[in-house]
Amino acid sequence: MLKYVIQGGKPLHGEINISGAKNAAVAIIPAALLVNGTCRIENIPQISDVTLILEILQELGARVRTVNRSTVEIDCSSVHRTNVPYELARQIRASYYFIGALLSRFGTAQVSMPGGCDLGARPIDLHLKGFMALGANVEVKNGYVHASAPEGGLTGTHIYMDQVSVGATMNVMLGAVFAKGTTIIENAAKEPHIVDLANFINAMGGNIMGAGTDIIKVRGVSSLHGGTYSIIPDQIEAGTYMTAVAAAGGSVLIKNVIPKHLDCITAKLLEMGVQIEEQGDDLLVSRTGTMHHTNVKTMPYPGFPTDMQSQIAVCLCLAEGTSLVTEGIWENRYRYADELKRMGAKIQVDGKVAVIEGVRKLTGAPVRACDLRAGAAMIVAGLAADGTTEIDHIHYVERGYEDIVGKLRNVGADIRLVEFPDDAGHHSNVG
Ligand code: EPZ
Repeated sequence: MLKYVIQGGKPLHGEINISGAKNAAVAIIPAALLVNGTCRIENIPQISDVTLILEILQELGARVRTVNRSTVEIDCSSVHRTNVPYELARQIRASYYFIGALLSRFGTAQVSMPGGCDLGARPIDLHLKGFMALGANVEVKNGYVHASAPEGGLTGTHIYMDQVSVGATMNVMLGAVFAKGTTIIENAAKEPHIVDLANFINAMGGNIMGAGTDIIKVRGVSSLHGGTYSIIPDQIEAGTYMTAVAAAGGSVLIKNVIPKHLDCITAKLLEMGVQIEEQGDDLLVSRTGTMHHTNVKTMPYPGFPTDMQSQIAVCLCLAEGTSLVTEGIWENRYRYADELKRMGAKIQVDGKVAVIEGVRKLTGAPVRACDLRAGAAMIVAGLAADGTTEIDHIHYVERGYEDIVGKLRNVGADIRLVEFPDDAGHHSNVG
């Protein structure tokens, strides 16, 4: 069993390079199915979710050539399957993008209902309603979504999203790329990865306008051509390291970010007394004094991201005074609270609200990564805590953070990846 072992209490100093955005990559890679020719995608993060998405694409028959550690070339001319089996789809939420991409390109898709981190109910009804509005016939049978276009293909239409959904907005965009006429998506999500997917499709010859606002217009085109595209930096990875510096103290240059994407996180940290200086594409984050309490409510972009809720909560655990955190997106995103309590945090959860009373210190303890972002929060807590923190279930963290151990060690953190036998006490160091 692999664990992260952290000797906490050391301030962080140096530079951290931010990788490409996970939630953009997992949509843009399936979107390669729409392209006639080869597309070269750069700035792909090396994380297990991306490995899985590439594996699904290859299972469908695509040729994937690794150019270097962050660049791949994808040629989908030999795709011969339109079904994504349960064994693959259950491992990753973003497998739902194969429904939109396969339906759009081949007029048919059979994709197992997706898996992913357990954050409570994660329905995909809005995705399916969107495909039906485009004229597709959609059925859920034996755990699979079966979607098929009518004889003349999909037709553009006006779609109002009942709820702001990142996945449904991107999936309907994929579905509408070749639909006849114009598709208008109203109450669309506005996250940076939505703009990134639209930019990718447009770079390959698509016609999408308004991404990043709540009305997106997709004008159907007859085909997409090959090209080169570079994925945006990961907003949440950058935000996680910002909270790591805030919690552990020190001064770190977070490199290769789009500062605008981080405004929602920067604003909260500034309010708490963390110093943040914008330097072009980099942010210098420093924390020397005490942090102050504040309230945080997660909301769709440009609000405070739910994917940063657990990491900022760790900072609030160490801030003076009492803070309130309200989760506005998912029904079950506080499972990490019990783990933080093991480290001495004072955090009480009641439904969607957590009340956090700041403590002077956290203390190291054995804890569990309950999901991807909860795991990242445990690392942030471990870096700030006195003593040793051992984190297990770290496969969650590896889904979304490229080389988190190496990046943190570079700024002076004492974090190691250690292999523990399941049945005995002794362990061996693996990096
Ligand atoms: C994406 O999930 C991200 N995942 C999540 O990141 C992120 O937490 C979430 O957006 C919100 O920002 C990927 O991009 C792969 P939604 P997604 O559809 O698209 C409800 C991480 O840690 N809803 O925006 O699945 C839903 O229940 C992950 O990187 C419906 O009711 O989220 C939720 O309350 C975790 N019906 C809300 O909308 C639907 O058909 C927003 O979900 C779809 C969603």
